[in-house]
Amino acid sequence: MKTPQLIELDTLSEATLAAEAAAGLRASPAAVAPKFFYDALGSRLFDAITELPEYYPTRTEAAIFAANGAAIADAALACSGAAPVLVDLGAGNCAKAARLLPVLQPRRYVAVDISVAFLHQALQQLQREHPALELAGVGQDFSAKLALPPPLLAGGGVLVFYPGSSIGNFAPAEALRLLREARALARGGAAGGTAGGTAGSGAGGLIVGADLVKDARVLEAAYDDALGVTAAFDLNVLRRLNALIGADFDPAQWRHVARFDAAHSRIEMHLEARVALAVRWSGHDGRVPAGERRFERGERIHTENSYKWRPQDFEALLREAGYGAVRRFSDAQGWFGVFVARA
Ligand code: AVJ
Repeated sequence: MKTPQLIELDTLSEATLAAEAAAGLRASPAAVAPKFFYDALGSRLFDAITELPEYYPTRTEAAIFAANGAAIADAALACSGAAPVLVDLGAGNCAKAARLLPVLQPRRYVAVDISVAFLHQALQQLQREHPALELAGVGQDFSAKLALPPPLLAGGGVLVFYPGSSIGNFAPAEALRLLREARALARGGAAGGTAGGTAGSGAGGLIVGADLVKDARVLEAAYDDALGVTAAFDLNVLRRLNALIGADFDPAQWRHVARFDAAHSRIEMHLEARVALAVRWSGHDGRVPAGERRFERGERIHTENSYKWRPQDFEALLREAGYGAVRRFSDAQGWFGVFVARA
């Protein structure tokens, strides 16, 4: 049996994260990035969200793969060639990719997530199920920049897999940047080539899931469910901040707000102060300077954007990023899209 290769690329130290969090709290309006949601409890709360009746994206995407798995695999392999290197962005528990392994038959599976610690267990398990498959786990915060060591991509066409509509966390300009970097990976080279330029030239493809525009009531229910699981997921970021910078947030003083902003085509999640209050942080033994921030009653901390695409706009974005032929797979209601694009 082979063993997974584990690589931590640009480790985010707790000090770096703490500095980013403190800067976000000082900003006006205050904001913290979605990556702060995913501590151990936050990851479990997200898993719980995916089970909620209101949260349609996960099960809709799964239904699209269940109904079209063979066609999606055919379209993707037509881009990459047989036995591709499969690169999974935000792989987490690797469950979605694991279901595709039988149809894609990759020569190597490269799981990328913010920390290799998240991938370790899942890759061990996957290796037991696929003893001969070459597995690699890479820790990289690709929300900042996506680039992998070339040896990981060597040996065949590259297929980049980015499911779950996580691309929705990026504003269009950043989504474009990430799609370009993903295309450079899929072509087996480094990013930086201009359109039609010098970035790699191998065969490659992309499978990406994107959530689509729909009735605002459906969207808002998905991000503010009756059980309050999404509210707990949002509020949990305050516990995370308390641990990270030694802050004294009391979650009971905050409420979760989720609204669809049609002009920006995005769900915005905020935490809203129920009363006028002050938050103090010790800096966690010098990780960051101690500080304080006052909030008026009703003042908010922005915690997440989740962009919703019109299918033709997402296809235009893919073309702008340099991709060629695009195929779209969707559900009957047109709620979610799985796009397969030639790199
Ligand atoms: C993991 C970014 C795809 O935007 O739907 C779920 C995160 N936030 N409920 C999404 C999330 C609140 C989710 N993504």
